Amino acid sequence: MNGTATGPRWWRGATLYQIYVRSWRDTDADGYGDLPGVIAGLDYLRWLGVDGIWLSPTMPSPDEDWGYDVSDYLGVHPDLGTLADMDKLIAGAGQRGIRVLLDLVPNHTSSAHPWFADARSGRDAVHRGYYVWADPVKGDSEGGTGRRAGGGGPPNNWLDATGAPAWALDDASGQYYLHNFLPGQPDLNWWDPRVHEEFREIIRFWFDRGVAGFRIDVAHGLYKDAQLRDNPPLAVDSPLHGKFGLRPVYSMNRPETHAVYRDWRRIADSYAPPRLLLGETWVGDLGVLASYHGQDDELGLAFNFPFLYSRFDAGAMAGVVGETLARLPAGASPVWVASNHDVSRFPTRWCAGDETKARLALLVLATLPGTLTLYYGDEIAMTDVDVPVPLRRDKITHGQPVSRDAERTPMQWDASPSAGFTAGGVTPWLPFGDNASRNVAAQRDDPGSTLHLVRDLLALRRTAFAGQVAAYERLPAPPGVWAYRTGPLQVTANLTGQPVPLPNPAGEPLLTTGPSVAPGPSLGPWQGLVTGPGSRR
Ligand code: GLC
Repeated sequence: MNGTATGPRWWRGATLYQIYVRSWRDTDADGYGDLPGVIAGLDYLRWLGVDGIWLSPTMPSPDEDWGYDVSDYLGVHPDLGTLADMDKLIAGAGQRGIRVLLDLVPNHTSSAHPWFADARSGRDAVHRGYYVWADPVKGDSEGGTGRRAGGGGPPNNWLDATGAPAWALDDASGQYYLHNFLPGQPDLNWWDPRVHEEFREIIRFWFDRGVAGFRIDVAHGLYKDAQLRDNPPLAVDSPLHGKFGLRPVYSMNRPETHAVYRDWRRIADSYAPPRLLLGETWVGDLGVLASYHGQDDELGLAFNFPFLYSRFDAGAMAGVVGETLARLPAGASPVWVASNHDVSRFPTRWCAGDETKARLALLVLATLPGTLTLYYGDEIAMTDVDVPVPLRRDKITHGQPVSRDAERTPMQWDASPSAGFTAGGVTPWLPFGDNASRNVAAQRDDPGSTLHLVRDLLALRRTAFAGQVAAYERLPAPPGVWAYRTGPLQVTANLTGQPVPLPNPAGEPLLTTGPSVAPGPSLGPWQGLVTGPGSRR
């Protein structure tokens, strides 16, 4: 490894690839993907050209929320492999120039974590203070939701990720504990300095093993209001601003959280090369998002949900990109992502399954300045899968019309009945999508495929951006067309269903989503073109 403690931020301009491990490749025929499956896929990832992978939770867990309920922060889930497999994976990836990020869940643990088992053993338990406990609040007997006859009710109006009260009564001690997600995911109490010390040890443990950084789950959530005040009402639910009629003003985004990242950043920067802190900053305000970078001394990267939830529209997307860049502190890199394990895949959400549109989206994602994160399957334009209700596995969206299982189905490696994901005859943990029409093997054989387009785009960004956040400038263009310059590249994206006259692109055609690299006088519907210095240099 090269670099120095204060050396280059290797993630600027990098391409990361999220692997939902249970869904990527199953080597032991139990229907779940595993770490040996990731190892088996490393050559594919090198061929594709990614710089790093982010593995969705790999730590032991009762799987109430598929690993986002951790029962041991220093281990590997037995369904996925062993610590030795993880070491092998980190080494094998390193040999191919690929860095490995793990998912870290510091907002809550599993209720099966030994800290919580101790905490609930009594009010005087050593670990009691690791969690958020509160006494019942006496209300009149006709009180609101969740109030219990006689004994009082939850301490405030906070709701969990399913819309139920975020407080569970612990009968033995007569107090409530907080769970912003499921009751099996008790929130940690970051007001307790011992929690900080535990997590310093956890992150050093993995950094010392060669882990290149963490994707930090619910990064904006750690601290809770000290007075546990009620959240204010929200008129209209939105994925960016709040659910179930409440704005999470007091249960998330508390100012104290920033100090945690300054602390962790000092630790991350003390390694060579520096380790990456990539936050799941699920916030709707781009100013708040930017604040998680601090003065480039907090998170190294912060996921941009306003971009992910933007309409697939030139004005809307260009607006978010322009404002994001304007607000980031000097030195920080934006990160663009359009799919993950919690949201509908972009080829479905933005493109209604239309591969022409998905190719354009990929061209845009890969040519914006900064870091790119792909979700497994994005590179073959994998779509959501309508998982039948009896086969659904996600408890957080249980009973809701749309399940997160839709975006978590197995990787489509080939057109065989087991999709190349598992052994023949094995039932996968979630059903396969349409692997006949979209799979890696078929697309690898076809130079005009989306997979080859993505590979070409990743090679292009590596050369053009050279690991830096390229300067971005929006250019004049016809209505519905988004044209911009990123470093040496000029991009013209026709986000309309009509052909449009092609404004004079500077430089040589380098890459297009359409059938031919040579631009005509017009760009076809949903076509994108990249021009640049090209072969004359
Ligand atoms: C994050 C994860 C999501 C999980 C939740 C609770 O949003 O991405 O999958 O359910 O946190 O850990």
